[in-house]
Amino acid sequence: MPSLAAKLHLANIQEVLKQALATAQITPKNIDYVTYTEKPGLLICLQIGKIVAETLSLYLNKPLIKCNHLEAHVYASLLEKKIEWDFPVLALIISGGHTQLYQLNRHDNFFLLGETCDDAIGECLDKSAILLGYSYPGGPIIEQLALTGKNAYKLPLPKDDNSLDFSFSGLKSAVRRLIEKEKEKLNIPDLACSLQYTLAEILVRKVEKALKQKKFASLALGGGVVANQFIVGYLAKFLREKYPIPSEQFKPELVNSTDKLYKDVFPLSYEGADKPTIKRLKMLADRPICSEC
Ligand code: KG4
Ligand code: ZN
Repeated sequence: MPSLAAKLHLANIQEVLKQALATAQITPKNIDYVTYTEKPGLLICLQIGKIVAETLSLYLNKPLIKCNHLEAHVYASLLEKKIEWDFPVLALIISGGHTQLYQLNRHDNFFLLGETCDDAIGECLDKSAILLGYSYPGGPIIEQLALTGKNAYKLPLPKDDNSLDFSFSGLKSAVRRLIEKEKEKLNIPDLACSLQYTLAEILVRKVEKALKQKKFASLALGGGVVANQFIVGYLAKFLREKYPIPSEQFKPELVNSTDKLYKDVFPLSYEGADKPTIKRLKMLADRPICSEC
């Protein structure tokens, strides 16, 4: 429903701006840079954001920075952290629309290693929750339900092959078949727990494959599913056991920002560097803005 999405964007954009300023406890005078999502996303909604950002930038006379939504998910892991990545970085995006693994040899150098062939991981959680009679977003509901469940149902590990690609639509179908088969006997917390376990296990296997292929120095996580304590904890446990890194580096520090950018960064060889993010913002601001987008 692109036209409905556009209407809702128009109706809410002003309130979103007001709330962002209130949350950051600043006024427009304190703004140094204006940024907007250039891609990927629904074109008509992206255009609304672009027009608002351009207007603000013009009015405030501040530089305009276009950003890639997915790259922003990865870079969000550096926000409010006094660390820098050590390169090369393995970046894992787990959101409602995407599941991707990237290699970054330096800043702004995203090389796609693998991605989902069908549904995204968050979409699998959202659709499974709907099959169980809950509403969007399904991720937090599944996480809550799983707290009292056990990994009792054997769900298939999706796309457990040698590639770094993912697949989640088959897993969602397996959930549907299980619901239909078990009917009233279905133990919903057990199903939620089994689903989370299966998702966490496939993420660990793909990350491990990537780490075997190349000596990455950091792992950066981005996307709404990073809010899931079990999935991130499972990944952290695997890394902690395999890599000699201080355990406090694995604690998920969930920070809210636009697009619910829950995030964390796992330095695989942490040196305690303290390079302010502002340097990075300045670098981005110097990039030319494409006039066509
Ligand atoms: O990154 P995001 O806010 O938006 C985009 O998709 O770009 O991610 C939203 C996704 C949804 O699929 C939602 O169910 C999932 O993140 N999510 C979670 C949790 N909180 C949000 N998934 C698992 N556990 C959570 N606690
Ligand atoms: Zn997103």
